[in-house]
Amino acid sequence: MPATSGTVLVTGGFGLVGSATVRRLAELGRTVVVADLDTPANRAAAERLPAGVTVRWADLTNAEQTSRLVGEVAPAVIIHLAAIIPPAIYKNRALARRVNVDATATLVKIAEAQPHPPRFVQASSNAVYGARNPHKATGPVTADTPMKHSDLYSALKAEAESIVRASSLEWIVLRLGGVLSVDPKAIPFNADALYFESLLPTDNRVHSVDVRDVAWAFAAATTADAAREILLIAGDESHMLTYADITPALAATRGIKGGLVPGRKGNPDDDDAWFVTDWMDTTRAQEVLQFQHYSWQDMLAEASRNAGPSKYVLPLLSPLIRAALKRRGAYWKQPGQYADPWGAIKRRLGDPAPDA
Ligand SMILES: NC(=O)c1ccc[n+]([C@@H]2O[C@H](COP(=O)([O-])OP(=O)(O)OC[C@H]3O[C@@H](n4cnc5c(N)ncnc54)[C@H](O)[C@@H]3O)[C@@H](O)[C@H]2O)c1
Repeated sequence: MPATSGTVLVTGGFGLVGSATVRRLAELGRTVVVADLDTPANRAAAERLPAGVTVRWADLTNAEQTSRLVGEVAPAVIIHLAAIIPPAIYKNRALARRVNVDATATLVKIAEAQPHPPRFVQASSNAVYGARNPHKATGPVTADTPMKHSDLYSALKAEAESIVRASSLEWIVLRLGGVLSVDPKAIPFNADALYFESLLPTDNRVHSVDVRDVAWAFAAATTADAAREILLIAGDESHMLTYADITPALAATRGIKGGLVPGRKGNPDDDDAWFVTDWMDTTRAQEVLQFQHYSWQDMLAEASRNAGPSKYVLPLLSPLIRAALKRRGAYWKQPGQYADPWGAIKRRLGDPAPDA
């Protein structure tokens, strides 16, 4: 088990999961170095870092920068979060391979070559199980459920995970469910995000989790007695939801009643026409990391308290908002009855197929 005194290097430390993980590690009194891209938004976030956390600007697709970073920081643990995720991944195929796979391979190789190779905690995803038809699936997925490449994201996350697992490092893989936050500003809300939400089959399973619990899990994984294990990180049973449960409930916390854009159910007879999320068996992860603290109901209550004055104005505007957004939905005037997530992604965002 690595010493709790060593430096923890967090790649992608200004992202959704990274910001919360860095906060949690700082609360625990750990020495933390954030590695992320030098962008105006990240520079602004760097001003608000907790005391004792330092920043190293680095583009992990640049092997020289990565080598300098790891050599100079000499971390006891690397938490590797940097990645390109949906929906942005479908617009940036080539970059996504360079960041999600090639940069992971480089980082692993550099870590292996250190005089004291660090523990390596890899952020993976329930996406590695591929498209999941709830009409065919049995119980929640486990660490042993086979991986399946259904789209670019699931394929690249599986490849990255395989690189880490084949390394000589003391690795732990955390496969995350759908990470949510009660902070209305934490998750990007733009035209692509709205379109993406509208294309997900409404009865597709998704296992959500509060980002603070994910952060707790990553921090605990830096010292947990669980090397070379795959752990499934999602909330307690109250988080075993469908997309029809999540989006309208979160919109309601901001005062928008009745959901945003009408969605479609998935096709029970087509195992590929589903998104890459499912419910997960978190028993082993909870035993090792003791990370589950926020139920789905806790999150909704807190999100509602955080929503601010807009929640008194938006109910009056709900019909107008819904009318305006209807035409932006993925299935507006589309033929057919069922959701076609990959077709909808291709129409607006980019080719979602795995690399040939
Ligand atoms: N958010 C989820 O629901 C979810 C679910 C499952 C798995 N995950 C995984 O968790 C990890 C973190 O996800 P997130 O939601 O925080 O994503 P995010 O997009 O919020 O953060 C990713 C971070 O990586 C950084 N980054 C991107 N390219 C980089 C590069 N070349 N060099 C250095 N930094 C770079 C970005 O600047 C950003 O700060 C990812 O590996 C993701 O695949 C996330």
